[in-house]
Amino acid sequence: MGIASDQHLVLVGLMGSGKTTVARIVADRLGRRVVDSDALIESATGRTVRQIFVDDGEEAFRSLESAALVDALASPVPAVIAAAGGVVLREENRAALKKANAKIVWLCATPALLVGRATSAGHRPLLDDDPAATLQQMHETRDALYREVADAIVLVDHRTVGEVVEAVMR
Ligand code: S3P
Repeated sequence: MGIASDQHLVLVGLMGSGKTTVARIVADRLGRRVVDSDALIESATGRTVRQIFVDDGEEAFRSLESAALVDALASPVPAVIAAAGGVVLREENRAALKKANAKIVWLCATPALLVGRATSAGHRPLLDDDPAATLQQMHETRDALYREVADAIVLVDHRTVGEVVEAVMR
């Protein structure tokens, strides 16, 4: 696929697909900054993702997420962007991803793999109740959306982190 030196590399995929881990390693290899959309939201608001969900609800979080994505893509310094799992839900975000000077890679994993990996960490309130059912449902509703924005798809199941990194680099 190849990436131009002025292009962002954006990783998309469900929670637990390895976006953050892979983004860090790839950014290191490319000598780039890594940008995490959840971290951007937390530093812009001074609140945690969980607090925002609890106090203001998911839609308010989604609006902050859209703003963070636009900000990250607007930076002239090419970065590796780990976009939070829900970023493809809004049409405006998918449009922003498609028109950005960026290569979008979907880290595609089966729900069975994700259930073992995506814990209901602090920033994942949506996984508090029934992670298996939630991830299965997210897989069903979102896979077409990830596919819609992706320039390349990297399958994650049965691969080590190193193998996923190599595939992303290719
Ligand atoms: C979400 C994914 C999370 C976080 C929030 C919602 C989602 O980010 O933004 O809990 O809807 O998929 P990660 O994909 O980085 O875990």
